[in-house]
Amino acid sequence: MKHVAIYPGSFDPITYGHLDILERGLALFDKVIVAILINPQKKALFTVDERLEMLKASLEAFPNVEIDTFKGLLIDYAVQKKAQAILRGMRAVSDFEYEFQMALMNRKFNREIQTVFMMTELRWIFTSSSIIKEAARFGGEIDDMVPRIVSRRLKEKFHQSPSPNKRISCIKNMTRYRKK
Ligand code: COA
Repeated sequence: MKHVAIYPGSFDPITYGHLDILERGLALFDKVIVAILINPQKKALFTVDERLEMLKASLEAFPNVEIDTFKGLLIDYAVQKKAQAILRGMRAVSDFEYEFQMALMNRKFNREIQTVFMMTELRWIFTSSSIIKEAARFGGEIDDMVPRIVSRRLKEKFHQSPSPNKRISCIKNMTRYRKK
């Protein structure tokens, strides 16, 4: 039997923190489905199509990954995709309460599907999509926290063109991330 996990989130946009969890999740599961929640309640910077484009470009080197979107309850989606697990990253104590609540609610709905938590690697513990967006909005350097396409799209959104030096540093950072 293939072991499949859903890695759900808003991914507005995807960051290296997400990639870290995904990469480690792929060591445990045969396949990971990265699924964007279509959530009209949460105001997003990027449209779902833009987020899908960034996910596809950022994850093309990852084998055994499917990219998808879902609406409604996560647990229903997990059943529909025949997944055995939900993969979540945990950054700090502040994430715990929300994640604990969500995991228990999902467990109440379906005891067959397990939530698997991974501690986010220390260097990404302070990051989030929102704080990176805020930094990018005011011209802060974000190239070492997000994949290249995300950095480019954020700069386009906030009308900054990446300087040639920043472009080079971005490629170096990506290489550094890959080598670890
Ligand atoms: N490193 C760095 N940052 C990370 C991270 C990591 N490893 N993992 C998550 N984050 C950040 C994200 O960037 C995001 O930042 P933001 O709030 O600034 O955008 C934040 O943590 C929240 O992450 P995300 O995983 O996208 O959670 P979410 O709250 O947007 O979505 C769902 C969570 C989709 C799993 C949840 O809302 C859901 O399942 N909804 C469907 C309805 C449902 O079934 N609810 C549960 C039972 S009622």
